[in-house]
Amino acid sequence: MSNETATTRAAMPQVANPILDRRTVENSNRNLLKHLRAGISVLDVGCGSGAITRGIAERVGPQGRVLGIDPGEKLIAEARQHAVDFPQLAFQQADIYQFETEERFDIVTCARVLQWLNRPEDALARMKNLVKPGGWLAVLDYNHEKIEWKLGPPVSMQRFYGAFLHWRQEAGFDNAIADHLKALFKQLGLESVTVEPQLEVSRKGEPGFAVASRIWSEVGEIRGPQLVKDGFITEEDRLQAITEYDQWIVTTGESMQLYLLAVEGRKE
Ligand SMILES: C[S@@+](CC[C@H](N)C(=O)[O-])C[C@H]1O[C@@H](n2cnc3c(N)ncnc32)[C@H](O)[C@@H]1O
Repeated sequence: MSNETATTRAAMPQVANPILDRRTVENSNRNLLKHLRAGISVLDVGCGSGAITRGIAERVGPQGRVLGIDPGEKLIAEARQHAVDFPQLAFQQADIYQFETEERFDIVTCARVLQWLNRPEDALARMKNLVKPGGWLAVLDYNHEKIEWKLGPPVSMQRFYGAFLHWRQEAGFDNAIADHLKALFKQLGLESVTVEPQLEVSRKGEPGFAVASRIWSEVGEIRGPQLVKDGFITEEDRLQAITEYDQWIVTTGESMQLYLLAVEGRKE
């Protein structure tokens, strides 16, 4: 598949995206917390609507500097609206494959983005280049093949999820990228490489189960139309998966666990 197909499939549909908006650095990028201190500089690659980026800016304070980049025009416009009270925070519409700057950062972070790139090794090399000597590259990403649901979700959602992974794989995206990051970091010559599990578990009875587990209905709503257009699932099957999965959440669904790893390495 071409780079063009990968770019088209990776592009975040221009619709409201509650998945990105409800994330915070504390609940969705907590591996960064140990690095964040007043006055440092951070680049957030693929920042989306900037929900996590704002939390980073709060922690580095007005003496720090935080830049979020993302190719999504609407996402960057939305991110800018929420950044007005933070002089240390800026957003720029840019793609990591092309982004150029003289600036170097104490931390370059990239969460849930490499899963959408067909040349993750090129993106990582560019990110490493943007880290100051002695600074850190911190990547957080999924292995979608290791999702766990209890009790299993409806067949219609299993079919949608399978189509989603197939559609992604066909574009050259690595569904298991989390488990390949350590080797990629080593190939790049990063030092002190660490791997930390960052499982996202939601269980029935705990606050937030209905919202967190609904991520797959939301993927059906937000990304699903792309799968239909590309012929990976029918519109009828997409709608059935959403309806039946929403039912599963309020009936037999007990838990959902997303598998993510945070992989970090220091640049000499
Ligand atoms: C799943 S979202 C993650 C957003 C945020 N980092 C988070 O963890 O919530 C993936 C983001 O990667 C962005 N993206 C896709 N291709 C990119 C590229 N080539 N360079 C930088 N960002 C990219 C998308 O626009 C999208 O906002």
